[in-house]
Amino acid sequence: MECDKRFLFLYGGAGSGKSHLAARKILYRVMREDGHRFLIVRKEKCRVRDSMYALLRDIIEQYNISNQFIFTEEKIYQIDRKSEILVVGLKNSEKIKSINGITGIWVEEAFELERKDFDQLNLRLRGETEFYKQIICTFNPMDAEHWLKAFMDRNPDNLFAMQTTFHDNIYIDKEYMDELVSQYKENENFRRVYIQGDWGRAYTGGEFYHGFSYSTHVDGVSYNPQLPLHITFDFNVHPYVTCCVWQVEQNASGELKRVMQIDEICLAHPNNSTKQVCAEFRRRYFNEKKHRAGLFIYGDPAGKHEDTRNERGYNDFSIIKNELEEMHPTMRVESKAPHVKSRGDFINSILKSEYEGISIVIGDNCKKSVDDFMYLKQDANGDKLKEKAKDIKTGIVFEKYGHTSDSADYFLTTIFSTEFNHYTQGKTGFMPIFGKKKDDRVW
Ligand SMILES: Nc1ncnc2c1ncn2[C@@H]1O[C@H](COP(=O)(O)OP(=O)(O)O)[C@@H](O)[C@H]1O
Ligand SMILES: [Mg+2]
Repeated sequence: MECDKRFLFLYGGAGSGKSHLAARKILYRVMREDGHRFLIVRKEKCRVRDSMYALLRDIIEQYNISNQFIFTEEKIYQIDRKSEILVVGLKNSEKIKSINGITGIWVEEAFELERKDFDQLNLRLRGETEFYKQIICTFNPMDAEHWLKAFMDRNPDNLFAMQTTFHDNIYIDKEYMDELVSQYKENENFRRVYIQGDWGRAYTGGEFYHGFSYSTHVDGVSYNPQLPLHITFDFNVHPYVTCCVWQVEQNASGELKRVMQIDEICLAHPNNSTKQVCAEFRRRYFNEKKHRAGLFIYGDPAGKHEDTRNERGYNDFSIIKNELEEMHPTMRVESKAPHVKSRGDFINSILKSEYEGISIVIGDNCKKSVDDFMYLKQDANGDKLKEKAKDIKTGIVFEKYGHTSDSADYFLTTIFSTEFNHYTQGKTGFMPIFGKKKDDRVW
């Protein structure tokens, strides 16, 4: 409340009292200091009215001091102090340039702001005033890659940032907390942002799997011992070697198919070899679950080549065959990898329910796969964007996303090869396939 630094950032989870603190601080100053001109700002002016303006008015009414203010559409005016709070939207930035004598700014949902909007506001807050000038930003930390985080990370002397969650809010009641927790429990990212108040990663557009939605495609799933297992491999060794485990549920007529990813085995250094991944799979499904209902192997066709990583005479698939021999695997590896853009389009088409009878579910236990489906981006050619990351300890640079979903692509385009071939021949869109003719594929 007394912080007089130029930048005051109140960020964190939902319901932590960020907006209330900002509103109360502005009113506190407006009541005690003469001649203020505060801006209350969001991208959209109309939203300033129904959030920030409404909150300020509520608090004023709550304290029974409405008679000290004049309320108009454009501003709240404190009569005795000749101070005003102006409603401002950023869509029309020319208008801000015409407002003089600004003494303070509150930006709500500061995440909506581009850096240049913020710089513009910062520039407007200048000149001699009797009291300290401050920009308050309130926001949920939606995306760790946002400029706001970079701004904070530089840790400038004139910034005070306070991170809070609803646990810090003594005014909040139990119902509100329960509601909040149940509302966000499904989505790991939202939980991180709104409950824990930590930096998340937001949708930014341009996702490779734009047909994927957490609420539709992620669910609790469990292993069904009656059904065959389909396992699919990606052989990149960094950040991990990938084996994803799928099963296909169908109704009696076989017209409805639910393709479910039930597990993911992603082993990082020092266990990042095909052999160790197979051993882990065997431990989970052969030794523990005693799986006997059939096993099909899919994966990157590049794994058929002998590789410097493997002993002479061995390739990844021969290793898999050897390691899983007791489970009598059937190999379903294509001769070459499907074209990245076409398989993306095809899978998006399934995700968007354009294929009658096929649905895809990713188990909520498969965290890396869910992240991949959500966050992997497209590059300019419609391929998977190869976003790089670096392991701080080892210095190894690797591709952040794309491994688990590559394995999913190999599996899906192979098990639905008939549909995929049709699709790549231009027979796109709505195409009822099942139920019309019996097909002899083993699911
Ligand atoms: N200073 C306060 N005095 C009274 N109630 C408060 C105060 N701060 C927060 N609250 C209560 O907590 C709720 C959440 O606060 P809010 O400021 O809307 O959170 P946030 O902006 O962090 O999501 C408010 O609806 C209000 O009921
Ligand atoms: Mg708020």
